[in-house]
Amino acid sequence: MFRKIKGTTDIYGDEILIWNYIESLIKEICRTFNYKEIRTPIFEETSLFSRNIGETADIVSKEMYTFLDKGNRSITLRPEGTASVIRSVVENKTMMANPLPLKLFYYGPMFRYERPQKGRQRQFYQFGVENIGINNYRSDFEVVLLGYTLLNRLGIKKIKILLNNLGDTSDRQNYAKSLKEYFLKHENNLSSDSKSRLYKNPLRILDSKSIQDKEIIKDAPLIKEFLSEESKAQFEKVCDLLKQHNIDFEINNHLVRGLDYYSNIVFEIISTSEDAGAQNTLIGGGRYNYLIDSKDSSTISGTGFALGMERIILSLKNEKLLYEKIMSETDQKIDVFVVNVDCDFMIVSLIVNMLRNLGLKVEYDYSDKTAAKQFKKLSKLNVEYSLIIGNNDFSKKQVSIKKRGSKEETKVKINELLDFFNDKCPR
Ligand code: HAM
Repeated sequence: MFRKIKGTTDIYGDEILIWNYIESLIKEICRTFNYKEIRTPIFEETSLFSRNIGETADIVSKEMYTFLDKGNRSITLRPEGTASVIRSVVENKTMMANPLPLKLFYYGPMFRYERPQKGRQRQFYQFGVENIGINNYRSDFEVVLLGYTLLNRLGIKKIKILLNNLGDTSDRQNYAKSLKEYFLKHENNLSSDSKSRLYKNPLRILDSKSIQDKEIIKDAPLIKEFLSEESKAQFEKVCDLLKQHNIDFEINNHLVRGLDYYSNIVFEIISTSEDAGAQNTLIGGGRYNYLIDSKDSSTISGTGFALGMERIILSLKNEKLLYEKIMSETDQKIDVFVVNVDCDFMIVSLIVNMLRNLGLKVEYDYSDKTAAKQFKKLSKLNVEYSLIIGNNDFSKKQVSIKKRGSKEETKVKINELLDFFNDKCPR
């Protein structure tokens, strides 16, 4: 028997209804914020990710699904969406022709070769937004607000917003230098992962999960001591706006994020539910002012975030009532089940097709079961109306219709079915 690849899942049954519900709610909220969808390819040339996410980032150094295609080109299954979106914006110049910012959202599978665990998979789904083309604290505020609004409207209450300011490139370079000096003094006591980061990217040591590292990190210099006045002022304006909107947040000076393209504000929205497990970051994002297009070295600035759908589903399951409410709202009902007493299948299929063209969800039996067996089958489904058709009725150009739970049968002329269902089953 074939089995799915480790770190992937099949989504079906009740679960897919929850996915559909979340997807349409998110798209609707994006519409109100005037973000438009973009779909980019699932694979790209490898250097797009290695150059933009950063050679030292775990995603690039350890986790990419990279292969040579038959033309000997190095191809990578996208580990995230931002690099592809920016590649597309730079390549398709007309996108930036309208008044800025360009506001885009995307949704689809991403691939990272990570150790699978609760909330962490090798193929996972991200929903992301990018607000592109202006370097302004108002767009940073808007993306944090959008992320918060999505979780809020989904009913996920146990969350915390974490913010940090990574400063601009020169602020960060100075900070990295000072961090390196500090960690070098403690090199022997660092975890092996952090030892290797010390030389490549000392900032990444700050979000180490190792207990021995955490002890050392406690007294490490803080980024806020290295920030320019301009960067501090922009960050404070985002914080002020959040406060004025009554949105709680916490500043976490150790939040660095795992991708190298960030500068200035970065943020995460984490689940505070005790059931969330170690992978509790629902949303991660921030500003990037130096994403470089490999072809012409032009830079493009933007701000955005991505949320992990699997983690959103887990959060909803943890808030059980909400999960049940969504299930009851999702459309599992079958409008009409057509029961064939003794007609030719061709007649049944014509009627089924006519009803489906009216927009009704219609089912029927595929074998030549007796009418009694067909009724038994439909009693196990969530059927609103049964439509019974036999040769006798059909010769009078009519059918019998019975509503769920009622013993009464109504005779309806076939050419009046449209009016009948328009009244009873508004679509
Ligand atoms: P990220 O923090 O790497 O950021 O991922 C964003 C979210 O994707 C995470 O918070 C998590 O919910 C989900 N996620 C990541 N890896 C996995 C996994 N292996 N399994 C399940 N869920 C996962 C980015 O990807 C940036 N591109 C976000 C961004 C957009 N920044 C600016 N614009």
